[in-house]
Amino acid sequence: MIDPLLFKRGMRRLASGVSLVTTIEPGGGPKGFAATSVTAVSAEPTPSLLVCVNRQVSCHGALHASGVFCVNVLSEHDAAMAQLFSSSEHRDRRFLDPRWESLATGSPAFAGALASFDCEVVSTMEVESHTIFVARTVEIRLWGEDVQPLLYVDGRFDGLRLAVAPTGTA
Ligand SMILES: Cc1cc2nc3c(=O)[nH]c(=O)nc-3n(C[C@H](O)[C@H](O)[C@H](O)COP(=O)(O)O)c2cc1C
Repeated sequence: MIDPLLFKRGMRRLASGVSLVTTIEPGGGPKGFAATSVTAVSAEPTPSLLVCVNRQVSCHGALHASGVFCVNVLSEHDAAMAQLFSSSEHRDRRFLDPRWESLATGSPAFAGALASFDCEVVSTMEVESHTIFVARTVEIRLWGEDVQPLLYVDGRFDGLRLAVAPTGTA
């Protein structure tokens, strides 16, 4: 039996990019939260990605109900947005920034992000405490060039200090 705390300590060493995952609650307003669990699944034939959402996250029901969401990949300049979207303290202030727009699905797209992936859910899978939402991307915006991504590692937000391309890649 693995100690869940040991699992969490190990996972704190896994550096990840940070995204804001947003949706529009049917008959309601915008919702969203900060996520490191976004993963590209496939570029072809259908550009697809997934995100793992704890069922206790307040927009979990809205994600199910709307069937759409937008993944907004944050730059190193937006650690404050990541904090706002990962703390339940000021949920009502999450969409006050004037840089929020919307793309094809109507889910909030953050023009201050590095990139936004507007998505339609194609399948879900319940795994332990989380739902995995697999989605196809219907619109993409690349907002920022020459800006570094926001990283989350060892419980804190950070930027990239060293960029070395793996041998043999473009
Ligand atoms: C850097 C970071 C990444 C996170 N990634 C995820 C994630 O991928 N999935 C998830 O369910 N919660 C994740 N969380 C936790 C949620 O962001 C946090 O519980 C948030 O407050 C949930 O939104 P709510 O307050 O509206 O319920 C993450 C938190 C942080 C700080």
